[in-house]
Amino acid sequence: MRVYDIILRKRNGMELSAGEINHLISGYMSGSVPDYQIAAFIMAVFFQGMSAKETSDLTMAIVESGDRVDLSAITGRKVDKHSTGGVGDKTTLVLGPLVAAAGVPVAKMSGRGLGHTGGTIDKLESIRGFSTSLEREVFIQNVNRIGISIGGQTGNLAPADKKLYALRDVTATVDSIPLIASSVMSKKIAAGADAIILDVKTGDGAFMKTLPSAVDLAKAMVEIGTHVGRQTAALITDMEQPLGQTVGNALEVREAVECLRGKGPDDLRELCLVLGSQMVHQAGQAGSVDEARGLLEEILDNGRGLDKFRQLVVNQGGDAAFIDDLSVLPRAGERVELAAPEDGYISGIRAEQIGIAAMMLGAGRETKDSQIDLSVGIELKKKRGARVARGETLALLHVSNAEKANLSKNMVLKAFTISKEPPVARKLVWGQVTAEGVELY
Ligand code: URA
Repeated sequence: MRVYDIILRKRNGMELSAGEINHLISGYMSGSVPDYQIAAFIMAVFFQGMSAKETSDLTMAIVESGDRVDLSAITGRKVDKHSTGGVGDKTTLVLGPLVAAAGVPVAKMSGRGLGHTGGTIDKLESIRGFSTSLEREVFIQNVNRIGISIGGQTGNLAPADKKLYALRDVTATVDSIPLIASSVMSKKIAAGADAIILDVKTGDGAFMKTLPSAVDLAKAMVEIGTHVGRQTAALITDMEQPLGQTVGNALEVREAVECLRGKGPDDLRELCLVLGSQMVHQAGQAGSVDEARGLLEEILDNGRGLDKFRQLVVNQGGDAAFIDDLSVLPRAGERVELAAPEDGYISGIRAEQIGIAAMMLGAGRETKDSQIDLSVGIELKKKRGARVARGETLALLHVSNAEKANLSKNMVLKAFTISKEPPVARKLVWGQVTAEGVELY
């Protein structure tokens, strides 16, 4: 089998066999297929696309490049959740304890933030003493004992994805649906859950800026999951503006606790209920999605979700004092207030710009090795649709050095659009994609 012929066949729009795809990926991992041939291959995929079968075969070739997590020692049906990335997305911090309190085993491996999007592991590290690096056995024992464990990725999961992603990043091939779908799903399949709920973001702060492209990505991922025997469903949710009111690690933990106290911003609460009810239903803990939602509302309002969060923190060595006194969390030295330049309505808050501004303040990483400051970030005082008067506070920057914050300040101000008329409302949840089809709301 010549690699040249495989590239040629894909370039000419032919369907590749599983054997051809495996040959490319295993050769890439062993070093017999060089970067330049894989670069040509992924560019051919970018232009020609892949069939559902080819996308599944590529996903499984990536899974086979590394280890798989065996979660069979955990009792019950394991449901994983994955978001395609957003700004201010702290849902895992709320959802994990919430669904665990409903009886769903939560064995969650999370990542760190990169670029304009944050990561759950960084957020959890703003809790004093909290350990996110757990041996596999401890991780599993935790889930069996208290129903939840959240740790960083251990083991060598989907190493081909790391190599492919690095190559895509420098060859303008990141935004290809089969390549994104296989990248995400290979990691989810290797992580071992029985069922997968995908939160596919759409809007300015998302990979998929438009609804049709988000639906296409969701369909590709649901097809892969279904094809390899994992029950998979996707919700398409809005990322036109940041989720909730805070962006930045300790600030987001604070907001998650407020949500678990039964308060917090409406969009965050609603998204957690929508995603959580799918998880509880898929885990078999409720007869219908509506019943699951009722159960989760009760758990949020009666504090059992917050109790589960406290149990998680203590179990992973963290100091739980912040749950009763949020001022214990890391706090930035200074606050910079941004005032509305004119009267009107907030008609847009560009999520990507807010994410980049937070990164520039030190909340996120420009490169994989950047150091982050857990205390800094952005608090949005007004969200889309709100009425503002000139001089009213739009946002508060939590900064370590007010002088260094100038660049971010301008960026945040520019991220806001103010218009005379109220904007057309956007949906928080646009629809869902399951093996049965697409349902837009
Ligand atoms: N997230 C991933 O894990 N992979 C992609 O290709 C894009 C987003």
